[in-house]
Amino acid sequence: MPGIALVGTQWGDEGKGKVTDLLAAETDLVVRYQGGNNAGHTIVVDGERYALHLVPTGILYEHCTPVIGPGVVIDPRVLLEEIEALRGRGIDTGRLIVSGSSHLIMPYHLELDRVTERHLGRNRLGTTKRGIGPAYADKAARIGLRVQDLLDPKIFAAKLEVALKEKNLLLARVYGRLPLEKQEIEDEYLTYGEELKPYIADTVQVVQTALDRGQTVLFEGAQATMLDLDHGTYPFVTSSNPVAGGACAGAGVGPRDIERIIGISKAYCTRVGSGPFPSEADPADAEVLTEVGGEYGTTTGRKRRCGWFDAVVGRYAARLNTLTELVVTKLDVLSRFESIKVCVAYEYEGERFESFPPHQTIFNKCRPVYEEVPGWSEDVSGARSAEDLPKEARAYLELIESLVGTRVSWASVGPERDQIVAL
Ligand code: IMP
Repeated sequence: MPGIALVGTQWGDEGKGKVTDLLAAETDLVVRYQGGNNAGHTIVVDGERYALHLVPTGILYEHCTPVIGPGVVIDPRVLLEEIEALRGRGIDTGRLIVSGSSHLIMPYHLELDRVTERHLGRNRLGTTKRGIGPAYADKAARIGLRVQDLLDPKIFAAKLEVALKEKNLLLARVYGRLPLEKQEIEDEYLTYGEELKPYIADTVQVVQTALDRGQTVLFEGAQATMLDLDHGTYPFVTSSNPVAGGACAGAGVGPRDIERIIGISKAYCTRVGSGPFPSEADPADAEVLTEVGGEYGTTTGRKRRCGWFDAVVGRYAARLNTLTELVVTKLDVLSRFESIKVCVAYEYEGERFESFPPHQTIFNKCRPVYEEVPGWSEDVSGARSAEDLPKEARAYLELIESLVGTRVSWASVGPERDQIVAL
């Protein structure tokens, strides 16, 4: 089983870190293939809580090689801080490798992310303000700077000159901000380059060699299907491709290298930032889910919007990612509702949609069609097998399985490593 992709099926924060942890023992490489430090994986290992943003979760397991692939955008200051913080907690970071082809998040990307959001006013996207969108935009416009440029001061200075000229005009003339100093950026980034040098490698070669040797490589998706630039709720999406197909381009492997594709879904649903969310719960239920589920962002601390499980989104994600299985997380959070709603379809202007609607207007204005099923009051956090779960919880998981059309292989019932039910 060489290639495994792990993808979020909703709007992120599904608990992918927990699943990486479950697979860690049999994994040789953990590869990030898209996104940047907009992500936040929380992992609890031996009672210690780690919040990782950029470094792949594989860093926490001594036998794993953590890899940052070419499809990731890197803020070098954040990467170095994260490495330092891990080192401070006794984690060996020497195994980490970073692709020289990854694009750099530059100071003007951070500034632009802030000012463009402000400029959009009530139409803002609610980004994490980490410079992700502007960095990917420069990559596509072919004026981006890459990690390998840090190793060649002359090239770095020349590319920076080109990019900064345009960015300073934009910042000053359009957004009324002060222009940024080229020399300051150059000095700062070349110092980062020196510090990052030992980590920079041809990650594509390393990953391909591992796969050819039959080693297990876990492609760790950040964000999720509904935040995918091409397939999510555009424009309220991130600027990369979190879907399983994105792992191929972002890590440098072929579709046949990935055999197992695990989708992660909360037993309910959350999203942060702006954008449509048909199954968003009424304020009273949402408040319970937020507080019991601890639904505050790992990266920005923002309160997440909470709602019910959306089977239309589930089916859409299952097909888009060709999921081979589904892991349902945070089942324990639902242990207090007399009845639980599941969105099985949408309705718009008298028409029923069981599949994801083709136009955003429909998704924006549709009404969720709910099926209401009995809840359970028992605490399930101690459950370790299907038999330990109340029959209503088992029926709920079976309902998800049949609505999504994908086998549910695990249900997570708490943050600790052993709080898991294999199904
Ligand atoms: P960006 O990725 O910072 O550009 O933000 C674009 C959208 O994606 C916003 O709605 C963010 O809240 C959302 N987003 C980005 N990263 C994550 C994540 O890791 N979890 C959940 N939402 C995210």
